[in-house]
Amino acid sequence: MNITITKTSDSKLDSIDFDNIPLGRAFTDHMFICDYADGKWQNPRVTPLELIPTHPAAMALHYGQAIFEGMKSTLSRKREPLLFRPAENASRLNASARRMGMPEFPEDLFVEGLKALVAVEQGWIPPADGSALYLRPFMYADEPFIGMRAATSFKFIIIASPAGPFFSKPVKLWAEKNYIRAAAGGTGEAKAAGNYAAAIRPTEIAKSKGFDQVLWLDANEHTYIQEVGTMNIFFKINGQFITPNLDGSVLHGITRKSVIDLLKHKGYTVTERPITIQEIAEAAQNGNLEEAFGTGTAVGIAYIQEIGWGDDTIKVSETYPVGEAINDSLNAIKTGLEEDVFGWMMPATTKEFV
Ligand SMILES: Cc1ncc(COP(=O)(O)O)c(C=O)c1O
Repeated sequence: MNITITKTSDSKLDSIDFDNIPLGRAFTDHMFICDYADGKWQNPRVTPLELIPTHPAAMALHYGQAIFEGMKSTLSRKREPLLFRPAENASRLNASARRMGMPEFPEDLFVEGLKALVAVEQGWIPPADGSALYLRPFMYADEPFIGMRAATSFKFIIIASPAGPFFSKPVKLWAEKNYIRAAAGGTGEAKAAGNYAAAIRPTEIAKSKGFDQVLWLDANEHTYIQEVGTMNIFFKINGQFITPNLDGSVLHGITRKSVIDLLKHKGYTVTERPITIQEIAEAAQNGNLEEAFGTGTAVGIAYIQEIGWGDDTIKVSETYPVGEAINDSLNAIKTGLEEDVFGWMMPATTKEFV
């Protein structure tokens, strides 16, 4: 499918101060958009970013057929825009689409759409170390209909937002015993908008108690660790790493997958298995819990300082040597400073779109 490109004559690029980017509030001049109607995706295009008229009965607003992805484009040393494992996001979007009864989006068009948008918005990638252009592909049901069934018309859109340098600071987690994020057979594995809606209130409660994020536990016993806010989680106990296995209730994080490879490459043993919060509390008490960190696109690696669990506080660590080394490696690979031995990076643009 040919992507048509219409450029704005009214760029806002000059108005953005790259030293002071309002996180999540600055948007580039264009978006990629594609419509699903009559059983097929059609009319892929890059257009000036604009409001989209929405019918009040649009099904996404009522029944929540809405999914999304999150990824970043970084600049290489030669100032060429790069994408990190975009095919993984394309495939995860389609896994989410299948779970939510939505049409799959052609994975090559997903990557081509990203490239076309990044090519047009190259000037928006902040140059400072640790900065990136955040890319948000998403799909929602725009058919106006009142009634419970899969919609028949959808939009797939990619918007972009410059993100300033992010410095990971240690975080405190609240192990949540009352609310849950996901149960087996539910939608936890999908990047469905509703999962995030359900997490807002518990996160507010955790913050009101002085914590940064919720540590989600399993739905049946409130015992098995699942993941954190918008991150997967790793623990280092007695020199070895463990992370919860993908049991159907945990998002298949692309950073998680990459960190497993990086840790193994650095000689560590990584085991994916069920992990109880009791086991982590005991390891901390016995002095065997050496490090813990979250992994996700937004922050890279977030070092975990402590975990509040009822009246107990599980003290994790004050130093994060392996977490920092992994964070440095990830950032260096993303900017071409470290050899991309895994073949994760892809040029974000092709001449055809510039
Ligand atoms: C619930 C949840 N878990 C984990 C992650 C980390 O996934 P990734 O590493 O692909 O960003 C995210 C972010 O997308 C998330 O929203």
